[in-house]
Amino acid sequence: SIYSILGLLGAYLFGSIPTAVWIGEAFYGIDVREYGSGNAGATNTFRVLGKKAGIAVMLIDIFKGWTATNLAYLIGLSVTGPQTSAQFINYQLALGITAVMGHLFPVFAGFRGGKGIATLFGMILAVHFQAAMICVLIFLVVLILFKYVSLGSIAAGFAFPLSIVFVFHSPYRSVLLYGMCICVLILVTHQKNIERLLKGKESKVNIFKKTAS
Ligand code: G3P
Repeated sequence: SIYSILGLLGAYLFGSIPTAVWIGEAFYGIDVREYGSGNAGATNTFRVLGKKAGIAVMLIDIFKGWTATNLAYLIGLSVTGPQTSAQFINYQLALGITAVMGHLFPVFAGFRGGKGIATLFGMILAVHFQAAMICVLIFLVVLILFKYVSLGSIAAGFAFPLSIVFVFHSPYRSVLLYGMCICVLILVTHQKNIERLLKGKESKVNIFKKTAS
């Protein structure tokens, strides 16, 4: 319906909010895309502007994905009437991915955004809370062991469909399908990171080390 299309448009606009760019410009007078990895995301904000800004960007970007995904409640139920839960979750996933596309290609920041990890996490939180917890756990374990955020992101991305199949035995095929698409998407957005990882040139992060600000 026209409402579900409007929902997707809303999700795209929401995902397009370039948190890292706006926080950097508003509070530090810096476009984070000109420094570090050049990415407009939480990790690079953390790298360039420090902990406070990095955590703020992370939380807002997670919130973007979560909210966009939950737009389904606003549109799906009240407008198009009763539907099956499979259709509903399918629409939720479509909204979440659309928000991620907004984050990757933000209309408000010259279509140069981030890699969508926090936004994807917000979406997973909204569709499958327990799987999201497994993703966080895998992310943290990989980050603590290897000190690469990108490697943690890739591992967490793969943990999603794997946990859907092997831990939760989810009956929704679309969740698995989207989960596999997410893996491909993460590999595509992390191409440069993967190259650097293979060359041993990826920048490391120690989350236990005290940093300025
Ligand atoms: O969240 C994105 C992360 O996986 C990599 O970011 O800035 O190190 O390329 P970055």
